[in-house]
Amino acid sequence: MATTRKQPPHTLVIDIGGTGIKMITTDGEARPLTERARMLTPQPATPEAVLEVIRELIAGQPGSHARVSVGFPGVVRHGVVHTAPNLSTDDWRGFDLATALTDLTGHPTRAINDAELQGLGVIDGKGVEMVLTLGTGLGTGLYTDGVLVPNLELAHHPFEKRQTYEERVGNAERERVGNSKWRHRVLRALVIIDHVFNPDLIHLGGGNARKLDPEMLPADVRLFDNVEGLSGGVRLWQGVAGTAS
Ligand code: BGC
Repeated sequence: MATTRKQPPHTLVIDIGGTGIKMITTDGEARPLTERARMLTPQPATPEAVLEVIRELIAGQPGSHARVSVGFPGVVRHGVVHTAPNLSTDDWRGFDLATALTDLTGHPTRAINDAELQGLGVIDGKGVEMVLTLGTGLGTGLYTDGVLVPNLELAHHPFEKRQTYEERVGNAERERVGNSKWRHRVLRALVIIDHVFNPDLIHLGGGNARKLDPEMLPADVRLFDNVEGLSGGVRLWQGVAGTAS
């Protein structure tokens, strides 16, 4: 008699961003089962308003899922939000995002920083790997042999000209100074990151990564797209060390 292997459950992956909220359903192997859906992040981006957008996006998702993974643009510890620099910051402090989404969806939910979730989808799991996402803000994730060092938050460290990395390479600055200047700043940031962390690989994603010239990037930099990153939502359920914090 043929034995049927139990398939890992489908996962609803949500990416909350400063500009857009994205959603996709994947199978147990992290293969996308739906198109990536996107709606604008509401303004002001309070927890209630963001959850309302998520509710609408879920209503439009075909098929079913049995668990939820969410990436959030700030520090998240044990499913609870600590910072949200690009959302309605004060309203999010102490908000139990994982529980709120479990209540909303009826499914177990894991919440983690947005860049860290994307990183789980693209890292090789060998050596020191740095993940950077260029979007509204600058997301960072650091992994050693696949183990996450949680909540690095390089975005708010000093970079140059008495400004932080995010102040220099975030989307508002890109719009202000233009792509050409912005690209050079990103390259300078990569040089510092290389010197400080000595990563074996830097994975570069986020909506603005496609505005870089791949020819200009150092050899240890690999570009990835959002859908690849969202597959990290499945890895989050595979007991990846470092993700429980
Ligand atoms: C936040 C990070 C986040 C990044 C990208 C930064 O402002 O501090 O936690 O990963 O934006 O959304």
